[in-house]
Amino acid sequence: MTGLLAGKTALIFGIANERSLAWGIARRMYEHGARIGLAYAADRLRRRVEPLAAKVDARFLARCDLARDEEIDELFARARTELAGIDILVHAVAYADRNELGGDFSQTSRAGFHLAMDISVYTLIALTRAALPLMRPGSSILTLSYYGAQKVAPNYNVMGVAKSALESSVRYLAAELGSREVRVNAISAGPVRTLSAQGVTGFRSAETEYGRASPMRRNITSDDVGDAAVWLSSPMARNVTGEVLYVDGGYNIVAGGLRPRRTGPSSGDAPSRRKP
Ligand SMILES: NC(=O)c1ccc[n+]([C@@H]2O[C@H](COP(=O)([O-])OP(=O)(O)OC[C@H]3O[C@@H](n4cnc5c(N)ncnc54)[C@H](O)[C@@H]3O)[C@@H](O)[C@H]2O)c1
Repeated sequence: MTGLLAGKTALIFGIANERSLAWGIARRMYEHGARIGLAYAADRLRRRVEPLAAKVDARFLARCDLARDEEIDELFARARTELAGIDILVHAVAYADRNELGGDFSQTSRAGFHLAMDISVYTLIALTRAALPLMRPGSSILTLSYYGAQKVAPNYNVMGVAKSALESSVRYLAAELGSREVRVNAISAGPVRTLSAQGVTGFRSAETEYGRASPMRRNITSDDVGDAAVWLSSPMARNVTGEVLYVDGGYNIVAGGLRPRRTGPSSGDAPSRRKP
């Protein structure tokens, strides 16, 4: 317990189950002293979310379909009385029709495009606007992105375009809100086996590729994302805003992927094969 977030209140959107990145973030923020509020999308998730909320002594737990403005308004009306102020807003939300996450990108439908952009991008703007009156100076807003925003990732398709727009929205919001002492950043996470991730065709190959070809030669976990979120939301990151922080074992710095680390007698570095 280092208490980097002692005295702070975090309102976290996007928890579906114990695999959710939102849960990794909630758990780590709680361990660092934050008071936790959680919001989930639909009634069918309550059974899974309630026991998790209890584990982090959640002061606030609400259902909110972010596709509906009136539900966002209701949630923040409740938050105003039950939480008083907010220091950390976490947007760990994305959605696209499964049919859009595979096959040819040129086949993206108009409806599929609108849906992905609405839930995965616009909701960050809507949540920021609704939360701002409750946000104290020194506050932090965080969202979650993926490398498919920057480079073509197989099958990521419309979600890649949505993540590009999300990262751009982070910069526009950060530029606007800096003068109010509110910071806005994104964490670009490597693949983690969550409910949403498994909806992307070929997700397992991406996971294998990151584990094999990233500088750290391993996959990340939701705890890694949670730890980065704690730092980004703490006073230690007080002059960091508008950024996309990669938590991906370094995968994004490498062109074409690294070769597996060679060990043992067949290694080119093995003494027996060195010239004297
Ligand atoms: N898992 C990965 O590999 C990975 C990598 C990089 C980025 N991300 C991003 O992390 C974020 C969290 O995803 P996750 O991987 O934890 O999966 P997840 O399925 O656990 O979380 C996605 C959440 O979005 C919520 N959501 C969808 N539509 C909603 C709506 N209309 N209203 C409110 N909430 C809604 C879902 O209920 C769910 O809780 C997403 O933005 C995702 O793109 C995930």
